[in-house]
Amino acid sequence: MTCEPRTDASGELRAASQAQPNIALIKYWGKRDAALNLPVVGSLSITLDSLWTRTDVRFVPGQKQDQVSLNGRSDEAEAKRITKCLDLLRACAGVDYGAEVASRNNFPTAAGLASSASGFAALVHAGARALGLDLSLEEQSVLARRCSGSAARSIFGGYVEWAHGKLADGADSVARPLLDSEAWPLRVAVAITSTAAKQVGSTEGMRRTAETSPYQSAWIDTQEADLSVARNAILARDFDALAQISEYSCLKMHALALAAQPGLLYWNGATVECMHRVRALRQQGVPVFFTVDAGPQVKAVCAPSAIEQVKAALRDVPGVLEVLDTGLGEGARAIAADLVEA
Ligand code: DP6
Repeated sequence: MTCEPRTDASGELRAASQAQPNIALIKYWGKRDAALNLPVVGSLSITLDSLWTRTDVRFVPGQKQDQVSLNGRSDEAEAKRITKCLDLLRACAGVDYGAEVASRNNFPTAAGLASSASGFAALVHAGARALGLDLSLEEQSVLARRCSGSAARSIFGGYVEWAHGKLADGADSVARPLLDSEAWPLRVAVAITSTAAKQVGSTEGMRRTAETSPYQSAWIDTQEADLSVARNAILARDFDALAQISEYSCLKMHALALAAQPGLLYWNGATVECMHRVRALRQQGVPVFFTVDAGPQVKAVCAPSAIEQVKAALRDVPGVLEVLDTGLGEGARAIAADLVEA
């Protein structure tokens, strides 16, 4: 990793970036090394476009503590994770400056909408530039992974694969773009069924699953085959094949987590009803499939021509509060600082 600050880093140590959440079609669940945040399985995702996190980072020489504002409020638990993430950037740059961080999401935080993925991707992207670090996107992805696994994928746009890797130091556990979003511009309808923060976060959920679920080894053993099917489906733009393997990976991840002790039940009634609704649409010939992460929201991935029909069907499900609509988008990028508070 290129851990020297650029010699031209001077003036204000400040930068702002935007990153979008990504949704895994082949899921990451489980760690082979919790300290380095290395996954036991590879995963494959799509980066979204109209949901975003915007983050402004300013390092202040002489300041001891970090000051963090998330959606205009302080949040102690998140501030700790942010400080740990900034520590990686500070270690890379060889400085100990405290930082002022302001971050804003335009979607519900910590409710299974991958806010940690976009949040840490934006933080690393902005923080590295603020410190004048000249990091490649792959290097930024490695740092983002250490802050939250799925953030490794939000550094890139479109279809992204993150390898589990075999090396102990994680040098080969890198996310890489597989296909641009414009090459296969699918759409995603997101059914929001609750805006409450989830009770068991992904990190704790994965730990509990690995320790207690009897299905853990079957999960690991079958992942490579799923990745290969999904990769080929994406490269061939084969919607039906991608639909089948994505729903399979989603349900398999939840079956694994449901079998933990105590079982991890991220769904509510509306979540289940939305999944039935999506399958009923597909049976009628509508190109759509569902995926659900560690929360109660349902993401329905569809062909652009089907988006209005899918949104209308999900809006009709009792318990659905709102249906968001997004295409696939780019990776993390620089923005003007005034866009963060705007
Ligand atoms: C269900 O990346 O949030 O969304 O690495 O512990 O921060 P940590 O977990 P996180 O887990 C995401 C889990 C998932 C599946 C996925 O995104 O692949």
